[in-house]
Amino acid sequence: MTLETLEYTEASLPPGSLGLPIVGESLEFIKNKNFISDHQKKYGNIFITSLFGTPIVFVGGGDEVNFILSNENKFFQAFPVGNVKSLLGEYSLSLQTGETHLKRRKLILKAFSPRRLASYQETIHAITQSYINKWAKTDSFKWYDELRNYTFDIASKYLISLDNGSETKLCEYFKSWSNGLFAIAPPLPFTKTRKSLVDRKKLIKLVDEIIQDRLSSSQTYDDALFHLMDAELEDGEKLSVEEVKHQILLLLFAGHETLTSSLCSLCRNLSLHPDILSRCKEEQSNIPHNPDINQSSMPYLDKVLLESMRIVPSVVSGFRKVLKECEIGGYKVEKGWLVFYQIDFTHYNKETYPNPHSFNPENFNPAEHKELVKSSNYIPFGGGVRECIGKDFAMLEMKIFASSLISQCDWELLPNQNLEYDLVPLPRPKDGLITKLRIN
Ligand code: HEM
Repeated sequence: MTLETLEYTEASLPPGSLGLPIVGESLEFIKNKNFISDHQKKYGNIFITSLFGTPIVFVGGGDEVNFILSNENKFFQAFPVGNVKSLLGEYSLSLQTGETHLKRRKLILKAFSPRRLASYQETIHAITQSYINKWAKTDSFKWYDELRNYTFDIASKYLISLDNGSETKLCEYFKSWSNGLFAIAPPLPFTKTRKSLVDRKKLIKLVDEIIQDRLSSSQTYDDALFHLMDAELEDGEKLSVEEVKHQILLLLFAGHETLTSSLCSLCRNLSLHPDILSRCKEEQSNIPHNPDINQSSMPYLDKVLLESMRIVPSVVSGFRKVLKECEIGGYKVEKGWLVFYQIDFTHYNKETYPNPHSFNPENFNPAEHKELVKSSNYIPFGGGVRECIGKDFAMLEMKIFASSLISQCDWELLPNQNLEYDLVPLPRPKDGLITKLRIN
């Protein structure tokens, strides 16, 4: 018997509380920044609450997450929470659903083909080297802030052929736009949300100018924007200019904020585990130079990257609306509710990872990794028909960054800084990871 065919009358609601009528547990949620982790400790990996008028079921665990990810459009559908729709734009891939989503996804995925990624390696190497040289010349720097510029330079060149993107107005508006993306306040004057909406307009105007320039010229580009403007959907239709703008905004956002967080966590994890760093250095010292990093065998570094994304996933959850009543993990979930599949709960499951909070690259070997992904016990990039389309791009950038850093540099974290994480909007060390680095 499959989960969906169980008699619903047998199932009970998930543990937890729906709180007061209408407000639910919203006030506690606003007051307590550990609301979700406190609830998880009290109720376990699946629990219910009610926030801002909607019952929400939080779900962690491979089987349960697998059920959600493999039933998109049947029991669940992507759904914008908070201000996400007005900030991302209605045509954004992450908000499109059903056939419309699948067709767009197929088209956008072609911008991340292995051929395109392979030909971009040289640029990633060059940008990485220029940042390493710059960091070695300063007394100290905040890794998070620097990585935000680094990842923006790489993403903006790949997506819209913009050089030194981090030094442009585009990047300036991006930073405050993305600050408001996860804010829950309505767009009232002087709120982050309002500022974010204003900056979104400026961003869209800049992207529109780039598109209009291209429409009035016959020049070709090897970038994602050119592909999006040129490519046809299966029925011969092309994306409208309005849609191209929304998709580019999403790709620029997703293409650098998540990577900033993941790379910064990697630097933090390596800094705090000198034994693991020295094994990485030893591995790097034995690798012959190969211009194609994917042809270089770095099995230990591969495990370190996977473990770093397990222990600090930069995206902690995905949201879905329930289309049809069903059961998750034996609990009843009703039509119209929201489910949040939790990547962090899943990655900290003791049954899968015996010491979930200690950094241990041995959690991964190639065979186990495949199995963990298949069973949804390892989901830094989500899964199913909404799996991250920038996954290969992200892994390539992380690998080039890590191998260059580890093989060329020594560094130390400066004392008297707070290494704890702020988790919103994306995980980042509270003081930004203040570092001194030299080229060896
Ligand atoms: C979707 C994580 C890098 C573009 C997702 C999802 C996750 C994720 C978890 C699924 C969200 C859901 O189920 O609702 C990450 C992480 C990254 C990363 C951890 C880096 C370490 C990138 C990059 C790009 C990108 C580099 C593009 C340049 C997207 C897009 C989607 C997505 C467009 C929506 C896919 C869809 O709805 O079909 N990402 N991502 N991501 N990601 Fe990424």
